[in-house]
Amino acid sequence: MGDVAPDVDLDPGSLDFIDHRFEHFAELREKCPVAYDGALGGFWLVTDYDGVVAVANDNETFAHRYEVDAPDGITYHGIIGIPRTPGNPRLGIAEIDGPEHHDLRRALNPVFTPPAVERLRPTMERVATWFLDQHIERGSLDLVSDFTSPVPAVLTLQMMGLPCENWEHYAEFFHASSAHPNGSPGYLAAVERAPEMLTELHEYATYRRAHTGDDLTSLLLQIELSGRALTDLEVTEILWNLVAGGLDTTTALTSWALHHLGTHPDARARLIAEPELLPTAVEEFLRFYSPNENLTRTAARDVELGGRQIRRGDQVWISWLSGNHDAKAFDAADEIVLDRSPNRHLAFGLGGHRCIGSHLARAETMVMLREVLRRIPDYEIDAERFQPYPGNPLMTGVVTMPASFTPGPRTGPAEQPF
Ligand code: HEM
Repeated sequence: MGDVAPDVDLDPGSLDFIDHRFEHFAELREKCPVAYDGALGGFWLVTDYDGVVAVANDNETFAHRYEVDAPDGITYHGIIGIPRTPGNPRLGIAEIDGPEHHDLRRALNPVFTPPAVERLRPTMERVATWFLDQHIERGSLDLVSDFTSPVPAVLTLQMMGLPCENWEHYAEFFHASSAHPNGSPGYLAAVERAPEMLTELHEYATYRRAHTGDDLTSLLLQIELSGRALTDLEVTEILWNLVAGGLDTTTALTSWALHHLGTHPDARARLIAEPELLPTAVEEFLRFYSPNENLTRTAARDVELGGRQIRRGDQVWISWLSGNHDAKAFDAADEIVLDRSPNRHLAFGLGGHRCIGSHLARAETMVMLREVLRRIPDYEIDAERFQPYPGNPLMTGVVTMPASFTPGPRTGPAEQPF
């Protein structure tokens, strides 16, 4: 990549970039949608909708995998932005490619289909009701740490067969590693705990091998990839990917949706009056906020994209967020239009690696939004104490969102449902 003159010199991990990313992305889409960025040792930054779609749909050319010293001589960087510190593992689904990825998705997909997710809905509702019940009589809660964080955490752990009473332990770790800017003290403190977390998941995989249950971990231990069983380490890496994917993104989406509704009374009143609009509104929150804002690929061969020559081994950064704000693909792209239709957004990615948990995320988000709009419809966010993630190049989210509301009665059972 050394012989390409940079078009820009933007570090997507810097706080300055993150603070102004909408302006940077708008300018890049307009002037140079496939730009060579000289920062971080050089990489391609793809920001327009068509470019992002082209990259995401071609996994053979734009590889996902993390593999240093690959036999073909390329260093496959996996997802740039994830530190390769000891104990911070390869993402067991997102950072593999080829037939093994295909076999893995084929084995796991049935667990995440719309009917399979629908069967979980009563559990989702019980868990959401229980967490709101803990605060409803008091008239105040932190919408994130008391509600949008625990609900997906418990549901994800339950799915894996992991003990749910530890939800806080997992939620804190995965939120902290996304919430703090790379390299900051909060981030380093979170990342320092990664080896311990990995060991716990590894021990759990080993335990499950001897004590099979009716959960996703037990399923992983039984499946074969290209005719061989998964090792405990591979199962651990897949669990890591699922827990990380299941926790932070859904929390972020629901938190931002509640923030929008809490600061736009007309939108809130409309969703309360027209609850059937909720699924369409959730798609729009997905498009607008794109909780997983960006991801990266490595070019496995020379290829032309948007009139630019990308070379084998080059790193390519694609922005779902920017593609989702491309005015060529969406009218009023920078506005939230609750009844937007059609809405072919990219928030769950595309192609062979498209988010495995998309239906689950949608259902959890809808259950949580319904619960709030039905039971504490007049919630008011404490704007002074509201705090979004200060800066992460891959993820957006909310750290804290205290709110008050008219107290109401508990409606669920007194006993914890998990
Ligand atoms: C609002 C919530 C969510 C958003 C915005 C989101 C977004 C994404 C995106 C953008 C990708 C990458 C797709 C690509 O590279 O083409 C992805 C992949 C993935 N997501 Fe999600 N996700 C969400 C919820 C979930 C949930 C609930 C789970 C699991 C319980 C999950 C598990 C995964 C996994 C395992 C992958 C890797 C798939 C693969 O590489 O084959 N995600 N997600």
